Amino acid sequence: MRITIGSDPTRLIDQAADAVEALVRATPDAVLGIATGSTPEPLYAELTSRVQRGLDLSRLRITCLDEYVGLSADHPQSYRHYIRTHVLEPWGIDSATAVLPAGDAADPDAAARDFERRIRDWGGVDLQILGVGPNGHIAFNEPGSSFDSRTRAVELTASTRQANARFFEHLDEVPTRAISQGIGTILESRHALLLAFGEGKAPAIGALVEGTASPEVPVSALQRHADLDVYVDDAAASHLQR
Ligand code: F6R
Repeated sequence: MRITIGSDPTRLIDQAADAVEALVRATPDAVLGIATGSTPEPLYAELTSRVQRGLDLSRLRITCLDEYVGLSADHPQSYRHYIRTHVLEPWGIDSATAVLPAGDAADPDAAARDFERRIRDWGGVDLQILGVGPNGHIAFNEPGSSFDSRTRAVELTASTRQANARFFEHLDEVPTRAISQGIGTILESRHALLLAFGEGKAPAIGALVEGTASPEVPVSALQRHADLDVYVDDAAASHLQR
């Protein structure tokens, strides 16, 4: 694990964008795993401005970590909508080269298995962008998730629904379930890049960097990742002792 701590989030975002750019220059049709949520939005915006300055991201193959169960692809809070507006359209990527879970499928478990199979058919993820929940979740692997877990339909905890209520008008509208890549699936990504900003993420970053790996803090599973870069600001690093 390599950890970069910085006081200037813009500089951290630039470094993360450099990692994506280096991947694309080496492998134009690499598989890039997108995290949704607010943390990586500036990274996608920085990559969009590099596209406007001539960087070609259009051959990337795109996948994601998770999707709410019950939201249609055009629901403004669905992760498919997020990826279309923050990634596919601005980077000129055909939606046919995006593997995203069908959150509105009649059988979410079958949709989860199909999502995992399609990622495997691509040969896995070259670079996975990750955020972390205040409760330590990665994707929607909530505390207690097995480190061997595969992509499946999961229940969201009350704290995650509360944390994500800011994107919806009412807490009642936040879905109760999601399709999530498993921790075992995420650990198979060839390279992962985790971003965390703000004091709310400090306990999770402390557990990842200095804690004992435990399913109670899912992000700590990333201690076992073969090639992980962590970019955090001073606030998110504030629980680190060493
Ligand atoms: C989203 C995802 C989640 C988020 C996490 C942090 O695809 O997998 O694990 O990364 O909930 O969300 P933000 O960045 O909004 O704080």
